[in-house]
Amino acid sequence: MTVGAFRTVDHHGPLRAVVVGAGAMGRAWLNTVDASPTVDLVGVVDLDPNAATAALSACGVPPVPVSTSLSALAEATLPDLVVDVTIPSAHYSVTREALDLGLAVLGEKPLAATLAEAIGLVVAAERAGRLFAVSQNRRHSPGLAALRRQVWTLGAVGTVSTEFFRAPRFGGFREEMEHPLLLDMAIHPFDAARYLVGGDPVTVWCEEFNPHWSWYRGDAAATAIFEMTGGVRYLYTGSWCAPGLETSWNGRWRVSGRHGAAVWDGEGEPVVEHAVPVAGAAEAAAESRARGWGSPSPTDIAGSLADFEHALRTGLPPSTVAADNLLSLAMVHGAIASAGTGTRVVIADLLAEAHRDAVDGADEDLRPALRDWRPPTPGGNGGGSGAGT
Ligand SMILES: NC(=O)c1ccc[n+]([C@@H]2O[C@H](COP(=O)([O-])OP(=O)(O)OC[C@H]3O[C@@H](n4cnc5c(N)ncnc54)[C@H](O)[C@@H]3O)[C@@H](O)[C@H]2O)c1
Repeated sequence: MTVGAFRTVDHHGPLRAVVVGAGAMGRAWLNTVDASPTVDLVGVVDLDPNAATAALSACGVPPVPVSTSLSALAEATLPDLVVDVTIPSAHYSVTREALDLGLAVLGEKPLAATLAEAIGLVVAAERAGRLFAVSQNRRHSPGLAALRRQVWTLGAVGTVSTEFFRAPRFGGFREEMEHPLLLDMAIHPFDAARYLVGGDPVTVWCEEFNPHWSWYRGDAAATAIFEMTGGVRYLYTGSWCAPGLETSWNGRWRVSGRHGAAVWDGEGEPVVEHAVPVAGAAEAAAESRARGWGSPSPTDIAGSLADFEHALRTGLPPSTVAADNLLSLAMVHGAIASAGTGTRVVIADLLAEAHRDAVDGADEDLRPALRDWRPPTPGGNGGGSGAGT
């Protein structure tokens, strides 16, 4: 994946962060930024200033300036970065405003509400020369990291599968959405599957449906088969209205390779079995034991923040830089398109169509850069503006 250069932070003090969006997840971010010894919270933005003030007080975080305007707060507080924890439909406007102000952005998933908007943000970040990455907090799960180390010992991978079956009663927007499982949840396992095998999606076939007892308005269950680069097949099957024997929130995973298989219940330590002796397997197991199967690195969104900070200090892009995360989001929208049309969707075609939509819908300011941009090619050659990729 070609990623444009971005401006690093050259002062040596803690990074200065503004959090935008003080809802449920915004509170988790306020706590995480507050706990970081190397990042200072300098302000909070929300459409509702009372929500921002209430969140600061509920989190026990020392008061900082609060505003309904990111531009005004940025002028007053001079941040290095913005954490965008607004609702998905606001991600485009908030992140675009931050990038146009010259600020780096760490956004909550999903990158944007649509693929066309996501492409617009990737191009806006490239044009501004600023880092824009997405927090895919599952990548910082110690169990997933341990499973990934085991996968390296399996030789060529044939199949990866995830089963996700739960029965939460959220109330609110998820029960009214059209594609609650695929749009709100499946980005996590889809992105994790790419992280596990280091592959990209090539095609997808998906069926989405709503069990007749479902308490969701939209389809709360789906089954998808992805062809990934290298011929790997990724199978996802899940439901959000599946009471009984529920899986963990990470789902139940199985990876089948040339030399054996690994399974993970999404919570505990993964289990691996080799059918033949494998060079490196003992070392991987020893490393996992030495780490207590977990990882000493920060977990969950603290891991996303640490990766982002490392990138801003070194200029090395994090693994969830937006230009790459586009391919995880394309898995979600490819699955929805396949279910809607009853056809197998080619991810490169989907990205090309989204690119055309992005150019058509762009403001005059961004359109020339969008026209020059090339969608990423699954497999790692691509993305970027005129980069000859
Ligand atoms: N990674 C995870 O595990 C995880 C879990 C939950 C939510 N999320 C993501 O976090 C984001 C926020 O979710 P949430 O549950 O906190 O939502 P929420 O509805 O609880 O809070 C969103 C907040 O953003 C504010 N807001 C909306 N538009 C805004 C705008 N244009 N400018 C400033 N503020 C604005 C709202 O007033 C609200 O306070 C979503 O993208 C969601 O997908 C991620």
